Amino acid sequence: VRITFVQHGGAEHEIEAAPGETLMRTALDNDVPGIIGECGGELACATCHCYLDPTLLKDIEPASADELDMLQGAIDATADSRLSCQVLVTRGFAGTRIRLPASQI
Ligand code: FES
Repeated sequence: VRITFVQHGGAEHEIEAAPGETLMRTALDNDVPGIIGECGGELACATCHCYLDPTLLKDIEPASADELDMLQGAIDATADSRLSCQVLVTRGFAGTRIRLPASQI
């Protein structure tokens, strides 16, 4: 499915994402700037922080307690925040726009 990452500064990166893959891995494999994934998806860094469309958020698996704990300490976290290493791409991601925080450039 085609998805678009939007940097805090407005730059956009449209890429192909495979359902079942994590959003973080998808971004790294496509060299999307702003998704760093320093801990490799171990819920220990929050450098994979992103903002999802609220409508999409309602349709996917909710964040675990551990992810919510990490998000509490993430810079500029909002109600739309997720850690992309914990989010699996689904068909419902088609056409979605994923915004990235100012702290990750
Ligand atoms: Fe470190 Fe997601 S990659 S918390």
